[in-house]
Formats: sequence, structure tokens, C-alpha cells
Amino acid sequence: MEKQEIRTFGRRHGKKLSPRKQSLLADILPQIAPENITHHGQNLILEIGFGNGEHVRDLALRNPDAVIIGAEPFMNGVAALLSAITNESDNKIKPEYKNIRIFPDDVRKLLNQSNILFSEIWVLHPDPWPKARHEKRRLLNSEFLTILGKHLTPTGQIIIGTDHWEYFDWINDQAKKTSLYASFPPLSTIHTRYAEKNMAGTQEPKYLVLTNQ
Ligand SMILES: C[S@@+](CC[C@H](N)C(=O)[O-])C[C@H]1O[C@@H](n2cnc3c(N)ncnc32)[C@H](O)[C@@H]1O
Repeated sequence: MEKQEIRTFGRRHGKKLSPRKQSLLADILPQIAPENITHHGQNLILEIGFGNGEHVRDLALRNPDAVIIGAEPFMNGVAALLSAITNESDNKIKPEYKNIRIFPDDVRKLLNQSNILFSEIWVLHPDPWPKARHEKRRLLNSEFLTILGKHLTPTGQIIIGTDHWEYFDWINDQAKKTSLYASFPPLSTIHTRYAEKNMAGTQEPKYLVLTNQ
């Protein structure tokens, strides 16, 4: 990152990883770094803060001809996704997940260093930072939404979902300060770990789609 960004995530490391996960991080992760691979003419989809990566895997299966880039700085989550997309016997990537790339860090570093355009950018259950004094840590502020808008293909979409309704309203207000257009399609609940945990105690996640036109 060019300037020191405010940290938007909680932690980078959790409980100690199994030997298999440690070797996946050392050997497989570098092979599927987005920076090392060129995607000539391919449709690109980004998921920001994928947690354990359930939805990245869904995207890979639903879009076999696209390349899915997942960004997540929490290494236990990265290891969980690597573990789910590889064979236990030989650590090779399963054929149906060969279109997944992982950026194991703050997504803002990836976006700042490239001009890649995405047809879809997903952000599911972003950290809500509910205390007023932590509001500056919220990732989806108007500046960041504007940056995301610049990384969309002409018909590209930013899809945001959260069950934290106060953060949802706040994101909406931030989006109004940008040139992006908002719509509220009736998406059915997308199952991720945080959707299951329902941290905010509300019933349903709400979804917001932002586009340039
Ligand atoms: C509440 S969790 C939700 C995880 C997952 N999307 C789900 O629904 O289960 C939010 C995730 O966003 C990640 N995150 C926060 N700031 C980020 C950033 N700047 N770049 C990429 N990921 C980030 C955190 O590390 C965390 O794993």
C-alpha cells in the first residue's frame, strides 16, 4: 500500500495450524497467487474477506470459465480454503477448483497495485466494527467503494451482503456519496460461516448491488 491504511480486519493468525495446512500455505499458496498468473480475456470475479472460503468455492463451481480471486488476510481462513480445494492424499488442487486464486492479504494492496477489472466483486458479512470509536475501520466507506467502482467491467457489479443492518444502512449512505447506482435485488441467503453464525442477531442478511450505470 502506498500510504498507511487503517486496519479493517481483526487478526491475521488464529490457532496453530495442522502440519498439512502449514505445508499447503508453504507450497500451494504461492502457485495460485493472482499476481503470478495472467488471465487473457477471462472473466474475473473478486471476493473480499472470504473467511473460510465457502462462497469462493461456490463461485468457482458456478463459474467454471471465470477466474475467482479471493482476498483474505486471516491465514487460518486461507488455510481452511486451501484445505477444502485440495486432495488430502497428495495436496493437489481438485479439478473443479483450478480456477481459484488466493491473495492472502489486505485486498487494498491488490487493488492499488493493479488495474484488473472484475465482472463481480463480492463482499459478504464485512467486519461491522460496531463501536463508534472503531467506525474508521469500516472497509466499505465511500472512498473504498469508489475504488471498487473503478475495478468493474462496464456491466460489472459490486454485491454486498450483511446481517448487520446498521452497517448496511451506513454502507448505503456511503454509496450515495459516490457516483455508483444502488439496487436491492431479492437475493436468497448466501451461506457462509458468518451467515450461519448470525452475529448481529437480526433475521436475514440484506443485499445491496452497486454498478457504474
Ligand atoms: C466477519 S468476517 C466474514 C467472513 C466471510 N465473508 C463470511 O461471511 O463468513 C470478515 C472478513 O473480512 C476480512 N477482511 C477485513 N478487512 C479486509 C481487507 N482489507 N481485505 C481483505 N479481507 C478483509 C477479515 O479478515 C474477515 O475474515
